[in-house]
Order: sequence, then C-alpha cells, then structure tokens
Amino acid sequence: MYRACTGHVFEFVRFLELFLELFLETVVERRVAVEVRVEQSETTMSDTGSLAARQTNDLDAFWLPFTPNRAFKRAPRLITAAKGMHYFTPDGRAVVDGLAGLWCSNAGHNRDTIVGAIQRQAAELDYAAAFHFAHPKSFELASRIAALAPADLNRVFFCNSGSEAVDTALKIALAYHNVRGEGDRTRLIGRERGYHGVGFGGISVGGIVNNRKFFGTLLAGVDHLPATYSREQQAFTKGEPRFGAHFADELERIVALHGASTIAAVIVEPMAGSTGVLPAPQGYLQRLRAICDRHGILLIFDEVITGFGRLGHAFAAERYGVTPDLLCFAKGVNSGAVPMGGVIARESVYDAFMHGPEHVIELFHGYTYSAHPLACAAGLAALDLYRDEGLFERAKRLEPLYGDAAMTLRGLPGVLDVRAVGIAAGIDLAPRPGAPGERGYEAMERAFHDEDLVIRITGDTLAIAPPLIVSEAEIGEIFEKVARVIRAVA
Ligand SMILES: Cc1ncc(COP(=O)(O)O)c(C=O)c1O
Repeated sequence: MYRACTGHVFEFVRFLELFLELFLETVVERRVAVEVRVEQSETTMSDTGSLAARQTNDLDAFWLPFTPNRAFKRAPRLITAAKGMHYFTPDGRAVVDGLAGLWCSNAGHNRDTIVGAIQRQAAELDYAAAFHFAHPKSFELASRIAALAPADLNRVFFCNSGSEAVDTALKIALAYHNVRGEGDRTRLIGRERGYHGVGFGGISVGGIVNNRKFFGTLLAGVDHLPATYSREQQAFTKGEPRFGAHFADELERIVALHGASTIAAVIVEPMAGSTGVLPAPQGYLQRLRAICDRHGILLIFDEVITGFGRLGHAFAAERYGVTPDLLCFAKGVNSGAVPMGGVIARESVYDAFMHGPEHVIELFHGYTYSAHPLACAAGLAALDLYRDEGLFERAKRLEPLYGDAAMTLRGLPGVLDVRAVGIAAGIDLAPRPGAPGERGYEAMERAFHDEDLVIRITGDTLAIAPPLIVSEAEIGEIFEKVARVIRAVA
C-alpha cells in the first residue's frame, strides 16, 4: 500500500517536473522571441537622452485597442522612441510619423519644452484633486484655451480624452435644458459616419456601424443626420466640397418628426477625420447653426481632431465662422503628451448653471484626473510652442502644397478618391473582391515595414495627417512613400 502510494507520488512529482520544464521552456522561448534591444544610432538619437533601452515582454497580456490582435502579434509593429517627425523602432529604424501619433502630436514628438514642463511638474505637484480643490495651472490653461476659442466660448471643463469630452458635452447639453426648465429636451442628434469616441454617449451619436452593433441598444432617443459625402459629386476635392450644404436641411426633417421641444443637441465633427477626412461642404455648418438657432437646439462641434491647428486655425469653428454652443477638444491640446480632453462652453451655457445656493454643486459631473497637473503643464508648454512657432499659421500656409501633394495619388491603381483639407488627407482604395479592408491593412503594414512610414487606416481608406512641423520636403517624401505603397498593394 505504502509502496503503491509512493509510486504514485513519485509519478506525480515527475509529471509536475515535466510540466514545469515544458511551461518554462515555452515562456522562455516566447520571451526570447519578443525580446527587443533598442540600440538607436547616435545620430538619430543624439538628443533624446537615452541611447538604449531593454524590454523583455510577453505579447500575450496586452489586448490592443482597435487592432486585430492576432495579426499584430504575428508581426508586431513596435515603437520605442520618438523625436520631432520620427518614431524609432527597436532595430533603430527612423519611421516618419504620417499621422501625428493618432492625430494628436501636432507639435511633433518629444519636444524639449513639453518634456521639461512635464518633468518639472511631476517633481513639484504630481496630483491635486479637481473636486473642491484646484491647482493654478488648471486656471491658466483654461484661460489660454478660452482665449484661442472664438466668440464667448470661454468656460472650459477638463477631462482626459476625446470620448470623455463628447460624453461630457452631451451631458452638459441635457443638463443645460433641464436646469432651464426644458427637461423634455432629451433627444440627441449625431451623424452617419461620425466618430465621437467610444463611450456610450459617443457611440450612440456616432455613425460607424462596427462601433455600434456589438454593444446593445445604446442610448435611447438618438437620431442621425445623413453623412455629407457623395463620391459622384465630390471626388478629388481639395478643401470643402461645393456640393452638399443641403445635407444640413435634414435636420429640419428630424425636427419635424420628433418636435423641436424634445431635441437637446446636435453634434458633428466639422471635418470627419476617422471615417476618412470628410470636410464639411461649403455652407453646411452655417445651415446647421441657423436651424439649431431656430429651434433652441444646442450645436456641439467635436473638434477632437480639428482643434489645435489641423485645419490651419486654433479651431475649425474659426475657419468656418460658425460658433457652436459647446466645443469638444483633446489630442492636440498638449500635443498628445499626457491624456487630456475637455469641453469649451459658451458663457451663456455656463451661466445657466450658476444659480441656487452657493454651497451646492452646479454640475454633477467630473473625473478624478480632470485638469491633471501633468496634462496642464504639458498643455501650457504645447500652447507656447504653437504660438512661438506659428504652427497653426504654418498649417494654413502649407495647405495648398499639401493638397497638391495628396492629389498626385490620383490615377494610381485602385485609388477611388483623394480628399485633402488643412494638413489632412484621406485616400479611398478600392476594396478587394470579397475582402473589404484587406488592401487597406496591407497598405498600413507595407508602409511601416517597407517604407518606414506610419499611416492610419479605416477599412480601405488611408489617412495621412503628419505633425504640423512637417517640412515641404517631408510632405513630398510622405506622399511618394504612399504612392509606392498604393502601387504595391494594387
Ligand atoms: C472626432 C473625435 N471625437 C472623439 C474621439 C475620441 O477620442 P479618444 O480616443 O481620446 O477618446 C476621437 C478620436 O479619434 C475623434 O476623432
């Protein structure tokens, strides 16, 4: 009996040993497989401080957002450092950033003044609650942002991302009507092909089917304007297309359907970035503004991409001469260096809340990291850079050249449309039969691996929007690379 038992125990221990050996081998193998040594050449990395970094990672644990995880993990695109217009890969390749990070690093990467501001802030005040307390830089940054915004858009509510900015704006709109005694105004109107982040508010007013269809019933009482794009009428347009102002009139139809007294707000991007750079048609935003005014509906501009210079102005509202009631920003506010977003409200919107006993909170909303000291410090440094280097004006000056460079892609195999506005371009490629998105994905992979270029894709649409510090030569270089990629995936 004893013998039998020890025999079993022995076998079990041996089994455990074997299992552990196998397990360790697999782990070690995988670690070795993804172990990367960063040895940047002295020339490319001379001013980034660190010359070498070592990472030992396992790719399994990180569930990448908005990424096909299995394809990525089979052929990872790793970035370990950045400076100015470039990223650097673990093997020391300099890769041109053709998308300003993710439409956010408008002043370029790792700018010394922003880095220094973050470092100093971290050493001085790492965190201060924004509920019932505040730190001085939050007021300073709010004042600087308000000064950049048009008209009486001068009250700034801080959050941490574009998605939070959108949900914040939608909540402010609903609460605004509520505190004014118009609590029946609960409907929100978005637009097809709109992208407003990934919160439940944002995906409800957003108009991208894959961002909506997996996530249940979303917010109730939401309707959508039609998209403003018509390839037949608008293909290969630089700037705002002439055709399409009438798409705004659909708002009148929606108002007639639901009744104006039930509608709180309309939210649109002045230029829809994520669905492929679709600028508002000429006169469209003006018409939306007029209809909103006629019916007491708040107009919200989602300027998460267009804010801070992308269209040659601090905000697209200025470019189009249309003042929204609420304006969402994020990304470029601190050149993408620390997560931050926010909403700029017209003074009249803010004032509507400033009633009742003074010890009572006026808006029951906010985030632990609202106006985070590091984000504010980075924001002040980024605004200094935008001003001192005239980056918004630079974008405006470069726009014609940028548009011309983008249009050189016209006529390449599979190119259905090219749109360019400000320092942004969208290129629609013909989908491969039965495999939508495959050509676009291959283009992004080839751009990175073969051409040392980062681009953005949405399905088979490519987006190119480099930092605003991009030189004229670099614009030419970027579109030459894109042309080679388009030929390669034809
Ligand atoms: C117009 C717009 N709104 C909102 C968002 C969401 O921003 P975030 O990813 O910071 O939540 C984005 C992101 O690209 C955007 O383009």
